[in-house]
Amino acid sequence: MNIFELDNEYIAHTYARFPLQLVSGNGSLVYDQQGKEYIDLGTGIAVNAFGVNDEPWKRAVTAQLDKIQHTSNLYYSEPCAKLAQMLCTRTGMKKVFFSNSGAEANECAIKAGRKYGEVKKGKEYYTIITLKNSFHGRTITTLSATGQDVFHEHFTPMTDGFVFATPNDIQDAERLVKEHKCSAIFIELVQGEGGVTALDKGYVKALEDLARKEDLLLMVDEVQTGNGRTGTLYAYMDYGITPDVVTTAKGLGGGLPIGATMLGERAENLFTAGLNGSTFGGNPVCASGALSIIERIDENLLAEVRKKSEYIFTELTGAKGVKSVSGKGLMIGVECEKDANEVIATCREQGVLVIKAKNKVRLLPALNIPWELLQKAIKTIKEACQ
Ligand SMILES: Cc1ncc(COP(=O)(O)O)c(C=O)c1O
Repeated sequence: MNIFELDNEYIAHTYARFPLQLVSGNGSLVYDQQGKEYIDLGTGIAVNAFGVNDEPWKRAVTAQLDKIQHTSNLYYSEPCAKLAQMLCTRTGMKKVFFSNSGAEANECAIKAGRKYGEVKKGKEYYTIITLKNSFHGRTITTLSATGQDVFHEHFTPMTDGFVFATPNDIQDAERLVKEHKCSAIFIELVQGEGGVTALDKGYVKALEDLARKEDLLLMVDEVQTGNGRTGTLYAYMDYGITPDVVTTAKGLGGGLPIGATMLGERAENLFTAGLNGSTFGGNPVCASGALSIIERIDENLLAEVRKKSEYIFTELTGAKGVKSVSGKGLMIGVECEKDANEVIATCREQGVLVIKAKNKVRLLPALNIPWELLQKAIKTIKEACQ
């Protein structure tokens, strides 16, 4: 059996894969089993922050592998503590809980929200407001938090305690706060899986005011937007808000699984021993890799991310066959006149890998993609859209 047949035979059919096997790469270039070269604008869904075969990350990971690969959370671990320190120093958050994925980071945030409601107002104050069209993960509870009915189908009953507000409509959020016993508001600042659309700044600020006025936790899901992706270290930094909880994963690990739930002043003491846990969470190899990622996301790199973003927006907005361009930083959605699948397939044939979000072509290049590769890829995308 070839690899496609083998996969089809033995892997659960949960993925609609592209007909391609990636076997190696370097930076923003990746290669299939025939040696065909592609410019990668998907980065394993915003995971390979510095592309493939990233030397500093590999050095950090292998140096830790030479020492100890796993300890469990029964013991202290330097990479994990240092990573938490770095995240808190760079964000102003106070404590971090480490897990292994975005969904798990969000599960922890949901627990924080519920505990906050209980402590502040009583056990019945557990409802969390999330947004319509959001995406928060695949576990039953993060699916329940996800404001898209299509994800709930077949898996009911959903976890109780989530209500969905219309994005950019503050009155709707105010109405939900009045109608339900709420503990928190939980949002993505750029809805990724929902079609790469950024929330309005005024709306986000108003949500923060609402959270403060009603004593709710303001929690931000930065699983996809975080770690430099949108042009600041975390997207909330460009919105001028101070969230109480920030979750992240994907790019943080640079290619190894890690999730982080950062807890601000109002949330830092919600968890005591035994209230949450994870066998692998904060694994020293993953944490060492993540340290090497976060320490390189500095102002110079972020300025480059913003410049490249501006370039993509300028090139694609109004281009033939392009209806709209949305998103922020290097998290971009392109709505095309043609079907997105057709554009994606043409790009792939022409040596450019892009992915999909709803009906849009989604671009998530490495934060350090070289200019010449980016220019070449954008030219290919423009041609594919025509
Ligand atoms: C905003 C957001 N939250 C949560 C998740 C779930 O992350 P994971 O697949 O690591 O569980 C994703 C994944 O796409 C995401 O984009």
